[in-house]
Amino acid sequence: MKIAESIEEFRALRRALTGTVGFVPTMGALHSAHVSLFEQANQRADHLVVSIFVNPTQFDRAEDLDSYPSDREGDLQKCRDAGAEIVFYPTPTMMYGNGRDQLTYVEVHELDNYLCGATRPGHFRGVSTVVTKLFNIVQPDVAVFGQKDYQQLAIIRQMTEDLNFPIEIIGAATAREDDGLAVSSRNYNIPADKREAAASLNRAMGRVWVKYREGARDRAALAEDIRAGVETAGLRLDYVDFVDAKTLQTPADGPLPGEGLVLAAAAFVGQVRIIDNLVLDDELPPKIDLSAK
Ligand code: PAF
Repeated sequence: MKIAESIEEFRALRRALTGTVGFVPTMGALHSAHVSLFEQANQRADHLVVSIFVNPTQFDRAEDLDSYPSDREGDLQKCRDAGAEIVFYPTPTMMYGNGRDQLTYVEVHELDNYLCGATRPGHFRGVSTVVTKLFNIVQPDVAVFGQKDYQQLAIIRQMTEDLNFPIEIIGAATAREDDGLAVSSRNYNIPADKREAAASLNRAMGRVWVKYREGARDRAALAEDIRAGVETAGLRLDYVDFVDAKTLQTPADGPLPGEGLVLAAAAFVGQVRIIDNLVLDDELPPKIDLSAK
């Protein structure tokens, strides 16, 4: 496995690869969900390329960027174990110029008006910009993203289509801990005494999935169930919403439609923000345990 610590070094290594490239962009602090993204990329392409870059332009809170976990040696070992051919490990200066502000940004309109886009201004502009830069540098044939970040995946799909990147975008199912908590690098920062409570988000969402599938369509009442579920466990709800699975728009007022919706929510466990989503037409993930409180 080669580690490229500059764009030039990466490009030289990339030029030497023959066959197709499967790309997994990451911000490091790799965990089992990344490993499953690596597996998907390996299945679909001849070579696996991973980038590790904590992208400053997608953080709306300085403390979130400062506390973002990192584990260089552990990350490189996971990439090695997955059979990665090249790990691209740039610095912010390399990615964003030498002392002057970057003047070009990529924005995917409308899809970023909702959910995390509404509560994290500028976040998706940072994501679309860095992913565009990484696509231009890495030149992959296939790129794999987790469905846990449902809105990010929708935005990247749209951007890839709109900007004519010849890249197949794969969405990989959300990896979950045994108690259903969606696996995330941020989970490393959840204080041990709050870790159990964090599972209240996926459970509250799972209970609402059941009610919806049984015919409940009152959006405010279902959202209130989720708020009550997480607040009772000591979490603070950031948002909960039901949106169209393709456009991410909120449906018109009145009873919720009977198909085509995603339930998405974010909550704070102490200072740590966790997110989750359930496609309401899909089956409930087996690890979401509705019998637990
Ligand atoms: O999902 C992530 O880890 C990041 O948003 C990504 C896609 C690597 C861009 O920085």
